[in-house]
Amino acid sequence: MNWWENDFATVQRNKLFLAGRKAEDLARKFGTPLYVYGRKAIVGRFSLLERLLAANTPLESWICYAMKANPHRGILSLLQRRGAWVDAVSPNEVETAMRAGFPPDRILFTGTSVSTEDLSSVFAVDGLTVNVDAAEELEIMGRIRRRAWPGRKIRVSVRWNPGIGRGFNPRVITAGRRSSDGTPIKFGVEEKKVLGVFERARALGFVPVGLHQHLGSGWVLEDFPAVREAVDKIVGKARELGKRGFPLEFLDFGGGFGPRYARGQSLFPVESYIRYMTRAVEKARLGIKAIAVEPGKFLVGDAGALLLRTEYVKESYGNLFACVNGGTYNTVPRPAIYLQAVHEIVNASRVAGRPRARLTVAGNLCETGDIFGRERLMPLPKSGDILAVLGAGAYCRSMASNFNLREIPREVLA
Ligand code: LLP
Repeated sequence: MNWWENDFATVQRNKLFLAGRKAEDLARKFGTPLYVYGRKAIVGRFSLLERLLAANTPLESWICYAMKANPHRGILSLLQRRGAWVDAVSPNEVETAMRAGFPPDRILFTGTSVSTEDLSSVFAVDGLTVNVDAAEELEIMGRIRRRAWPGRKIRVSVRWNPGIGRGFNPRVITAGRRSSDGTPIKFGVEEKKVLGVFERARALGFVPVGLHQHLGSGWVLEDFPAVREAVDKIVGKARELGKRGFPLEFLDFGGGFGPRYARGQSLFPVESYIRYMTRAVEKARLGIKAIAVEPGKFLVGDAGALLLRTEYVKESYGNLFACVNGGTYNTVPRPAIYLQAVHEIVNASRVAGRPRARLTVAGNLCETGDIFGRERLMPLPKSGDILAVLGAGAYCRSMASNFNLREIPREVLA
């Protein structure tokens, strides 16, 4: 069995199947490039998380889907029907979530660099919780509330920056003073200001209900010790807030835990993480009602793939290229944006074919970095072979652009 096979991507008679359907048939029927997502696999991941939480804590668990990962309408409805919450980061995400049936009281709005317009439109949605990213933002929130919604009870939580961040590359580490490449981290309220923000929120008429952190994205096993440390920190901070007159309704541990994208990666231990987090909350006797998590990649990352057609194999200066009919920026931009983002590429037409060769899978955009995978040992494709870029369920369609005036592909939820 190949390391990447799972309940979404399987192999039968040397052909790739996605969500139980032959990838070549899907490509023929819907055309390429094509995103394919698996309904059952997504629900399976959600249920797994639900079970892990239920097995470890009597508290309510709010699984807030980080819809920025993939706001496909069908995926949103699917998760909404299963009882998910949603982590929305812009007014359009809030609106899209509501159109998919999420009630406001299952929406957490976590903005960054939010505008007056953003805040006015989310305040209009009665019942959602606004996650405050800055003391400075809170002042603007106060003014808008006084002017437009003076009587309204607006629930707020505070996104703090615990000083510890983890992620698969410097661009997605979202806590700490600076990222691993020195970039100043813009997110959250620094530790020494947290209590003041809670006090000010109450003074301005808001209802402070939660404390939130999000450390970054794409954790692997090696990130676990730092993540545990951050769990201890937020629990400690919640205890302190409770003692200072701010008993909380919920603690939100954010997202970050995801699937494996490459063979050599060590999987982040989600079960141990949930156990650790729930025990820490229990031991601290916080009296909270709920634990929240905000998975994006975990729910959809490896439940999606992109299908491309091989146009021809090109040789130049000893390099071999599988030239495909799609461009990274228009489909799976992650490898072009983040040097560390690796996606497994499978020849769906001959999964274990011979001969094998070392190929760079090249897209159709005018950029050297427009490659889906570099020098991969894989069955030598023939013209017309369908290649599948795996791990394309999260942050692919949602980050795709029309660069070079190329179309963004269709999506199928199978
Ligand atoms: N909560 C908040 C507040 C977030 O900002 C994010 C992601 C998540 C939850 C979900 O994180 P996840 O479980 O999906 O790791 N474009 C990058 C990922 C950026 C993630 C940003 N925030 C990528 O393609 O890897």
